[in-house]
Amino acid sequence: MFGKRTTSEPVFAGSPARAAPEAPPRVGPAEVKAPVAGFPPAQAAPIASKAATRVVPDNRSDDYYQIKSTIFNALIDTIDLAQLAQLDPESAREEIRDIVNEIISIKAVVMSIAEQEHLLQDICNDVLGYGPLEPLLARDDISDIMVNGANRVFIEVAGKVQLTNIRFRDNAQLMNICQRIVSQVGRRVDESSPICDARLLDGSRVNVIAPPLSLDGATLTIRKFKKDKLTLEDLVKFGSISPDAARVLQVIGRCRCNVLISGGTGSGKTTLLNCMTAYIDAEERVITCEDAAELQLQQPHVVRLETRPPNLEGQGMISMRDLVRNCLRMRPERIIVGEVRGPEAFDLLQAMNTGHDGSMGTLHSNSPREAMGRLESMITMGGFQLPSKTIREMIVGSIDIIIQAERLRDGSRRITKITEVIGTEGEVVITQDLVTYEIQGEDETGRLKGKHMGTGIVRPNFWERARYYNLERELADALDKVNQ
Ligand SMILES: Nc1ncnc2c1ncn2[C@@H]1O[C@H](COP(=O)(O)OP(=O)(O)O)[C@@H](O)[C@H]1O
Ligand SMILES: [Mg+2]
Repeated sequence: MFGKRTTSEPVFAGSPARAAPEAPPRVGPAEVKAPVAGFPPAQAAPIASKAATRVVPDNRSDDYYQIKSTIFNALIDTIDLAQLAQLDPESAREEIRDIVNEIISIKAVVMSIAEQEHLLQDICNDVLGYGPLEPLLARDDISDIMVNGANRVFIEVAGKVQLTNIRFRDNAQLMNICQRIVSQVGRRVDESSPICDARLLDGSRVNVIAPPLSLDGATLTIRKFKKDKLTLEDLVKFGSISPDAARVLQVIGRCRCNVLISGGTGSGKTTLLNCMTAYIDAEERVITCEDAAELQLQQPHVVRLETRPPNLEGQGMISMRDLVRNCLRMRPERIIVGEVRGPEAFDLLQAMNTGHDGSMGTLHSNSPREAMGRLESMITMGGFQLPSKTIREMIVGSIDIIIQAERLRDGSRRITKITEVIGTEGEVVITQDLVTYEIQGEDETGRLKGKHMGTGIVRPNFWERARYYNLERELADALDKVNQ
């Protein structure tokens, strides 16, 4: 129709119940030298940090950890873990509460009611949940949790990485918690299979890399699932994009341009993809393919698909390519691929080229130009014996718009380019930027100042498409404003 194209419940693996409590950890002898001296006052534990890294205040000190481990060991000696695992979390908590109170009085540990509550919470988390990670998982303002061995836990809040005072008892406890997390999706992590991807029950994505590959204890990385996804209006509010450039994006979404979102890790690609899906019509049948379901489409007619890693015997893997190819037999109107990483690039381009207008995906790359190079190499490396001219023509025939997302050095996330793919000249793919973000300086707090600017283009290549959907006035107006 537009010259280029021939027209025409995620399965949450794992059980909902918590996995069985970890094996009793042993930190020194279980025998306690009573009475334990008074509870330490609230203070930040002395964790050495780089000058630039802010330490989040926390009232757990070394003494606290010592008392906790003493009580914990006594608890483990008393309690029947197998029986505890049968109880629902509430009753299990009650059970633990009773025993801990008893231990505290027998050992004559001096502590206030508040301190006792605190300790109890911590111990319950250790026995029933994700241990020291629980308070971090409960916080909605944290976007990433990064555990580098038992003693170093970093979090990302508002674009800034900070060291916390959260600590694991030792590397064995950390490993136990990693194991508990991955066992929920039927996987295992140990010396023989030290790399593992998994997901928490709330949808957060987890990666574990264990010793011997990780040298200082297991390394755990959690990308937390945001319940309230950001909208394009939020992005405007944060200054990630200007209001007028956001209107250009809206038109792009509504007139069914094929869009590729490019950016580095954590630059906001998935978030932006989710924002763009808001402009899909309610009548359209949309199929999403993801490695771990993150997208939250609001439309009624959405099918969500997820890839599957191989099982413990190394079998049963369903790749992204399998999903995208299957998608084509499911009568989709739009196909959304969470992240294009491999040979599925070919199938997505095919889909975009054969009547599935408005398909979208994200890709890891640092610029729109690099994104096209990466698409090409994904196709070549996927074993397709096609001349590069053919691949480039295919890219040009499929992708309309590339949106670049970036995380800038001040931690802020910006949409730095809206770029059109317009054709080939010889073997070279020609693109034109419609909007770019220009950094203009820094304010006194180190925050970058900048502006989204139009490049003077008033009739982009997708003009006809916008007109077909009755959106050319909106487009002209938005471009007019970004070009001012
Ligand atoms: N424009 C933005 N402003 C502020 N935070 C953002 C923005 N875009 C994304 N985020 C946050 O950054 C984190 C990473 O975003 P995500 O979209 O998952 O990145 P990517 O897919 O590129 O790895 C998430 O916690 C998300 O909520
Ligand atoms: Mg992503």
